[in-house]
Amino acid sequence: MKLDGKVALVTGGGRGLGEGIAKKLAEAGCNIAIADIDLDNAKKVAEDIKKMGRKAIAVKVDVTKWEQVKSMVNKTIKELGSLDIAVNNAGVISIKSVEELSEEDWDHVLDVNAKGVFLCSKAEIPHMKEQNWGRIINVASIAGKQGFPDLAHYSASKFAVVGFTNALAKELAKTKITVNAICPGIIGTQMWYGDKGLANKWKGEKESMEESWQRNQESLIPQGVAQTPEDMGGLAVYFATAPHVTGQAVAVDGGMTL
Ligand SMILES: NC(=O)c1ccc[n+]([C@@H]2O[C@H](COP(=O)([O-])OP(=O)(O)OC[C@H]3O[C@@H](n4cnc5c(N)ncnc54)[C@H](O)[C@@H]3O)[C@@H](O)[C@H]2O)c1
Repeated sequence: MKLDGKVALVTGGGRGLGEGIAKKLAEAGCNIAIADIDLDNAKKVAEDIKKMGRKAIAVKVDVTKWEQVKSMVNKTIKELGSLDIAVNNAGVISIKSVEELSEEDWDHVLDVNAKGVFLCSKAEIPHMKEQNWGRIINVASIAGKQGFPDLAHYSASKFAVVGFTNALAKELAKTKITVNAICPGIIGTQMWYGDKGLANKWKGEKESMEESWQRNQESLIPQGVAQTPEDMGGLAVYFATAPHVTGQAVAVDGGMTL
């Protein structure tokens, strides 16, 4: 296996993209720490990964809280022996125009999506420096490359992740730590397909959520079909195995940001 014996930590790994990324990394040989604010979901994914023949632990974390983020990293190193690949994926969305948006909405999305990536990286770097090897993979979005209506705050948080990734890659360029970002396009997780998701919010009159989901895929994505969590996992495995790729924000979006 390409990544045999490496230890990967995936935040927001309890469902959606994080789960897909964690399982692809496990397929490639990694032992995995699944960290999520929802411990029950994290435990379920960790059990699935154990069935794949890998070691796995579940950790409860709120990525906006420094003490919890430090304990997450310490627990991973203590129980799995190292931390080689960190996928900072936990994220939240809300769908509101700037006029509708409250200060609390802004703070919550920026705190989880942008500050969370900063705090996780800050806790992950010292161990990676010590072992002179590491991969930091931040999950941004195509909304970190272009704006979308009702998502100004989300876009601001994801542009922040792309800028942070680029700057940190330069800061660490002389070490054997690479820092890259995945920019997913449209995937049918809770962010799109749940009750509070984009397909519901961007529904036409008399349109069901399913019809809206189909129409949005066809109209927004040149390839006409949504991407999958496994697609994002494939890119994470690539970043983890590519020593000379750093500072990049790569879109997996069926051509949306061509
Ligand atoms: N689904 C998409 O179309 C899409 C597109 C572009 C980018 N993304 C990004 O991908 C990442 C994953 O999104 P998803 O679609 O899987 O969403 P999701 O809502 O299905 O999963 C997000 C996970 O993060 C966890 N989480 C939320 N807040 C947290 C916190 N404070 N601390 C720890 N964990 C927390 C949730 O419990 C959940 O398990 C996010 O960063 C998101 O912005 C998603």
